[in-house]
Amino acid sequence: MNNIPLHVAFIMDGNGRWAAARGKARRAGHEAGAEAVRALIKNAEAAGIKFITLYAFSNENWQRPEGEIKDLMRLLSKSLDEFDKTSRENNARFLVSGRRDRLPPDVLKKIDKITAATAGNKGLTVILALNYGARQEITDAVNALMSAGKKNVTEDDISAALYNPAAPDPDLIIRTSGEERLSNFLLWQAAYSEFYFTPVLWPDFDKAELEKALAVYAARKRKFGNI
Ligand code: FPP
Repeated sequence: MNNIPLHVAFIMDGNGRWAAARGKARRAGHEAGAEAVRALIKNAEAAGIKFITLYAFSNENWQRPEGEIKDLMRLLSKSLDEFDKTSRENNARFLVSGRRDRLPPDVLKKIDKITAATAGNKGLTVILALNYGARQEITDAVNALMSAGKKNVTEDDISAALYNPAAPDPDLIIRTSGEERLSNFLLWQAAYSEFYFTPVLWPDFDKAELEKALAVYAARKRKFGNI
């Protein structure tokens, strides 16, 4: 396919509804969601995408019941172990976007280990948005610039002070489950992103669904404010 986006960001929504539709606990939906992430990493790489960002846990998600937060952190910890192994074979690079506060020490330890171990990898870059909020990211950037003594701040200054300044802005943002909003995700970086919304629930977002989204993107005309 022509016109493959360099960077695709995913709002992985609908795990709970997927589980409810099967009479299962929400945890089963998140497990199926993690399985979909595993497949996505392979499929995105095969499609020629260079960066993916996954909205895994927002800073508003701390409001969820304690049991669900524990389940998500456990699943995340397990997924990090798997990524650690697979990145040796597929040469993928791992980065995290978000605040470190409130994350369990074992998760932080794994993040640091994998980030360091994969820093030189040249394959797909996988960015996990974890304990992430876009307004917080922009506020953190502005505060960092003020602490550095800046009196006047430019757009480039803010871009350079975000959590992952080296990642290009997402060309395409995909949200599953029929919801059509950004939910405090990449507000700065999404200025010229294309959006793709699908009613498909995240655990069902497979290779065919990714290809559909890429075909829609390929047909879009991006003008970046020009004519
Ligand atoms: C939204 O579904 C999904 C999340 C809050 C978390 C995303 C987590 C995963 C896909 C699993 C693990 C992630 C990784 C990176 C291994 P929801 O619970 O809001 O669904 P609902 O709106 O149907 O209730």
